[in-house]
Amino acid sequence: MDFELSEELTMVRDMAREFAVAELAPRAAKHDRQGYIDPEVFTQLGELGLWGLTVPEEHGGAGLGNLALAVVLEELNHACASTGVTVSVHNSLLGAPLRRFGSEEQKRTWLPRLATGETIGCYCLTEPNAGSDAASLATTARLEGEEGVLDGTKIWVTNGGIAGLAIVYARTDSEASRAKGISAFLVPMDTPGVEIGKSERKTGIRGSSTTEVVLEGARIPADHLLGERDRGFMIAMDTLDGGRIGIASQAVGIGRACLDASVTYARDREQFGRPIGDFQAVQWKIADMATRLDAARLLTHRAAVVRDSGGRCSLEAAQAKLAASTTANFCADECLQIHGGAGYTDDFEVERLFRDARITEIYEGATDIQRIVISRSLLTA
Ligand code: CAA
Repeated sequence: MDFELSEELTMVRDMAREFAVAELAPRAAKHDRQGYIDPEVFTQLGELGLWGLTVPEEHGGAGLGNLALAVVLEELNHACASTGVTVSVHNSLLGAPLRRFGSEEQKRTWLPRLATGETIGCYCLTEPNAGSDAASLATTARLEGEEGVLDGTKIWVTNGGIAGLAIVYARTDSEASRAKGISAFLVPMDTPGVEIGKSERKTGIRGSSTTEVVLEGARIPADHLLGERDRGFMIAMDTLDGGRIGIASQAVGIGRACLDASVTYARDREQFGRPIGDFQAVQWKIADMATRLDAARLLTHRAAVVRDSGGRCSLEAAQAKLAASTTANFCADECLQIHGGAGYTDDFEVERLFRDARITEIYEGATDIQRIVISRSLLTA
């Protein structure tokens, strides 16, 4: 077992870290305030190859795996969680299922555009009445001759307002129960009948786009079906296994930012005539944060390695997301406590980190869902 990153991954991490420190960290508060990511950042991510990190080289990407993505996402999220989730969803919720289940033609058409960031991807699963219970989704896809006609409303679509391509899950067999009659479709966002609905005003990750996507008689060619008909739920779940590793990496990045901010503040802030880091109450918080973060990172990297080896990683990804997201919130809470009243204002970045951390326990499967996945795989093994 090797706990060190390879030479190649160390270089990739250092490149992502340099970019995050120089370009993202100074913009993070601005992204949060203005509610969108600066367009220059999208260009820079393209120049560094980060949109196409996991796209195969033959399709114009870097051809790296989930471990590389996890390492990069930790760095991006350490600086700016809004940018981090945008890149995570693009790579893991759109690029990955296209790579894993797409036809050669679909891959040739879309992967090169995803690799450069010319087209940004989004994932449309959740609906107003189908959140944690994703298999109860009600969006329909009627097959009419050579076309599929989509009707329904998707919500909580990360990248909804900036995407050029969506993967949409819809019911193709109204007779089949729950997961059985769902199919996945590649839907260009400029398809007539596809509209961006409400844009969410969120507690955190405010620089990222989160919207409704409304489908009303949206017609797409039948060959935009991704994978097998009526097997889309399996694609949705397999995709989320990868996505959860991305969110776990995000949580580790946010948590590490909380740890760093805590150490800096504990050294600088003096009370009772000495730095507050001299007090055991603060020292223990810092020790617990560092230990839980290392454990969360190890679980995250293990899940990525299992996925890269081609095996199913539902258990490992759920454990990583559960551990990392609860750790990020623990770190944010302790960091704010160390900062005291100052941390409750936007004079210090912990105020934003505290808000950003919260979503990691909610999206791509809430903490409770991760516990369901973990316990099911143990109890039914
Ligand atoms: N890989 C492959 N197949 C899988 C799978 C996986 N990880 N998980 C389940 N399946 C298959 C099962 O084997 C089963 O197939 P068969 O019927 O052929 O055996 C089928 O899928 C149904 O599985 P379940 O019976 O386990 O389904 P369920 O209805 O009990 O649901 C669940 C399980 C874990 C609760 C699931 O619904 C779930 O993960 N819910 C959370 C949804 C979620 O994470 N939503 C977030 C959406 S994305 C987002 O947040 C927005 C964004 O843009 C970031």
